[in-house]
Amino acid sequence: MCGIIGYTGKKNAAPILVEGLKKLEYRGYDSFGIATADGAISVIKKEGRISNHAGNAGTLKGTRGIGHTRWATHGIPNDKNAHPHTDCTNRIALVHNGIIENYAELKRELIKRGHVFRSDTDTEAIVHLVEEEYAKQHDLPEAVRAAVSRLKGSYALLVLASDEETIVAARMASPLVLGIGDAETFIASDITPMLEYTERVIFLDDGDIAAVTRDDVSIYHNCERVERPVELIDWSVEDGKKGGFAHYMVKEIYEQPQVFYNTIRGTDDASLPDYYRMKDPITIVACGSSYHAGMVFKYLLEECCQVPARLDYASEFRYYPSPASGLVIGITQSGETADTLVALRLAKAHNCHTLAITNVLGSTVTRLADTTFYMRAGPEISVAATKSFIAQLAVLMQIINKFCGNNHSDTLLDAHTAIEEVLLMDISETVALCENARSIFYVGRGPFYPVALEGALKMKEISYIHAEGYAAGELKHGPFALLSDKTPVIALCMPGETYDVMISNIKEMKARGSPVIAIGRNGDTNLPEICDVFIPLPGANIFTQILTATVVLQLIAYHTAETLGRDIDRPRNLAKSVTVE
Ligand code: G6P
Repeated sequence: MCGIIGYTGKKNAAPILVEGLKKLEYRGYDSFGIATADGAISVIKKEGRISNHAGNAGTLKGTRGIGHTRWATHGIPNDKNAHPHTDCTNRIALVHNGIIENYAELKRELIKRGHVFRSDTDTEAIVHLVEEEYAKQHDLPEAVRAAVSRLKGSYALLVLASDEETIVAARMASPLVLGIGDAETFIASDITPMLEYTERVIFLDDGDIAAVTRDDVSIYHNCERVERPVELIDWSVEDGKKGGFAHYMVKEIYEQPQVFYNTIRGTDDASLPDYYRMKDPITIVACGSSYHAGMVFKYLLEECCQVPARLDYASEFRYYPSPASGLVIGITQSGETADTLVALRLAKAHNCHTLAITNVLGSTVTRLADTTFYMRAGPEISVAATKSFIAQLAVLMQIINKFCGNNHSDTLLDAHTAIEEVLLMDISETVALCENARSIFYVGRGPFYPVALEGALKMKEISYIHAEGYAAGELKHGPFALLSDKTPVIALCMPGETYDVMISNIKEMKARGSPVIAIGRNGDTNLPEICDVFIPLPGANIFTQILTATVVLQLIAYHTAETLGRDIDRPRNLAKSVTVE
């Protein structure tokens, strides 16, 4: 995790770095720091979030600098472990995103040679290695190349030296993108900090080392000079702003009708690899919300297309026998989740065809997978996934549609209108039941089981209320012991073959004293009778029912967290992009 940024140009670097780091905070936010070069290296770094208290970080002088926002791995979050880290001479500063697996061995070696360490991080070893190499040859790109050749693990790093115009960037398994402006160059973990300055970007590859000045970028790979394409990005600056909403999360929830529609349109003529027509095995790997989207897909694939699929947490994939052939789909909003990347690499090694579903142009997964389908969600800033989840469902539903000979095209093209209706609903009664809950159970069956899992995940992430998603039939196998008037149950009860058994389940839960909030089809006459709150959803088909139920659960989590005054966009202990295994 962690977000890094570099700037070199004609302007003062510090204010640009501070604003850029605020946009990268979704990658971690337990401490921050920046370093600028203005004759000497100046560093300001602190525990806490830059968006809460940047202090005087923006006042540093110098037209080139680097910055970092941290999600701690090695060393607790405090001032001394915050990046940038500097060498013994204070002439070199470095920021790093990733993990150096052999840092303990390197550290011992460096200490023996007289280096003094001032932090508990793995990163500090790198800056001392660069220091040694730079002393030998006074060539910063070459010194960084020699230093990184000693590293095992993952890194995106930026190196700034007091007597060099060049900032050096290096990448291995952590993202890094260059923004080419007008006499200024940006380097960052993603494109969001550079959106307001340029639309021309270069994505670095693993193993690349870039020497960056304000007017020039030279990229080296295996000591050879290489060219990487300049790509144009189509995310707008406005996409990255709150636009009058109280939080990014609610803004992103309200963008969902458009996001769903754009993604359906954007994937309409996506050509599916032959694998879709062959009935080869399909495996889905993902983490977090993306895993829940994968589970919805698995149910729909089996129900609508009679195609069986295997679904694994990406982090568990390697512990089961890998599929020997077929298609492996990696779903990852960021395109950078380490476990999903590892799973896809393993799948490739077993000769499977790999398909990535991602939101981020140029992200690592797009370089790894044989085929990529893009979601059209635009930048998602809030840590809790909302519009990216809906966009994943759009891509996955489009795949189902293709499988079924485009039979569902009209339904999918119209589904955004049902999402719009849900956004207007009043859910205050539900929020009143949830805000004082000790625990909340979310239950559903079939494809509504993963929707329940996703609803519970949203609630626990942002409200800090314990919430569990359960397959409705499982609740009586243990969790019933927890039911009481302080444990509301949110039941997804849609028409269809599971309806009657869901009604029985709801009655059982009511009989144990739990308030029940039922989410069902508009016009249902049973549910209002037996439940404390009934939320009627528009949507006459399985696709819109899944989408609208998802959105209602997002709203319930959001408004509960809002009532409790939680830090909705930056929940404690989390990061949006988990780039460590
Ligand atoms: C983190 C985020 C989740 C996300 C998961 C997978 O845990 O907080 O919101 O669902 O990573 O991320 P990905 O980028 O692979 O979809």
